Amino acid sequence: MENNAMKQVHLQRSNNNYPLLFDYQSTTPCSQEVLEAMAPYWNELWANASSRQSRFGLMASAAVTLAREQIASLLNVVPERLIFTSGATEANNLALLGHARAMAADKGSPGHIITLATEHHAVLDPLRQLIREGFRLTELYPGPDGLLSKDQLVEAFEEDTFLASFMFANNEIGVIQPLAELVEACKEKEVLVHSDAAQAFGHIPIEVDKLGLDFISISSHKLYGPKGIGSLVMRSELPILPLHWGGGQEQNLRPGTIPVPLIIGFAKAAELAFRDLNIHQEKLGLLRDQLLIDLRQKIPDIIVNGSMENRLPHNLNITILGVSGSRLFRELRPFISCSSGSACSAGKPSHVLLALGRTVKEADSSIRLSLGRDTSIEDIKKATSVIDNVVSRLRGD
Ligand SMILES: Cc1ncc(COP(=O)(O)O)c(C=O)c1O
Repeated sequence: MENNAMKQVHLQRSNNNYPLLFDYQSTTPCSQEVLEAMAPYWNELWANASSRQSRFGLMASAAVTLAREQIASLLNVVPERLIFTSGATEANNLALLGHARAMAADKGSPGHIITLATEHHAVLDPLRQLIREGFRLTELYPGPDGLLSKDQLVEAFEEDTFLASFMFANNEIGVIQPLAELVEACKEKEVLVHSDAAQAFGHIPIEVDKLGLDFISISSHKLYGPKGIGSLVMRSELPILPLHWGGGQEQNLRPGTIPVPLIIGFAKAAELAFRDLNIHQEKLGLLRDQLLIDLRQKIPDIIVNGSMENRLPHNLNITILGVSGSRLFRELRPFISCSSGSACSAGKPSHVLLALGRTVKEADSSIRLSLGRDTSIEDIKKATSVIDNVVSRLRGD
């Protein structure tokens, strides 16, 4: 049943197409094909995939096996390397806490870990938990373009560095880290590398083994799949301890009843995203570039946050000087659905923008505009006009 708030939003959108949707990096809707692929597994085929004695259980298990194979083949890895989780947050926690604790148990003492100050909290918070458990953590500040250089990384290694975590693509500023060279530097020191690829998987090519990544975290709801499902993809036989104990599912690393419909939806969403990846990349890149050109024409002093060259095609993050952040968002809200950064940052100034050297005021008056499959050139034109009007009003032009 639709509640009143939902009805209001639908009514507004059907009347005048507002608010324009520019928040596809926080999540995406489930595509129709994904919903159809999942449908039978909510009712007719509702069996537990671990009930191997039952015919329906075997059917559910076979469907999960196929889905695992489909996602694995998109990443060019064997299916056994996938551990299904509730999303990228859990995959990050499992990789970071699970591997670090296993290493400490093996070596008898905790060691040193390296990461980026611009990581998502789903990486920073588990790593900060590891500090409380005796590990040492270095959070490196990238350059003003949001990218970490190999030289900066090399300086940070310590005698007992055993793990590094660098996100594939940033959720706020969209920058794509130069992982090939960062991983190369880590391999020279026998340091394992985890990458949070929640924003990259299904949007840009990911070559896990060619890059030499040991662990990557992926999520379904960023690519038009269901919420509540993701995966840790890890190299075989790396030391890792589970975070939970129970029924032994997912190679004893993620016990609990397997969410069959979500896994089927995840595989379908991934298949579709990879099938049309180049088309979407090209279209969204052109629209995003047009948005920036149009915005710059109207508001010449906007600052773009992060590198434009190494960036997801559907992301733009800009700082608008001289306007109050809270008023900017209040005025934009009826017309544009966008965000100030991570959907999870709960109103605090963006730690990503602060790490890039922006002041609190600048970070507050920054907006992330993220485009999706349905974004049209009309949306770009309307968004430019709305932002221009609001900014002019707030600046008293
Ligand atoms: C970079 C990054 N990591 C992790 C997450 C969390 O993913 P999930 O919602 O699948 O737990 C997100 C989503 O907001 C993200 O953008």
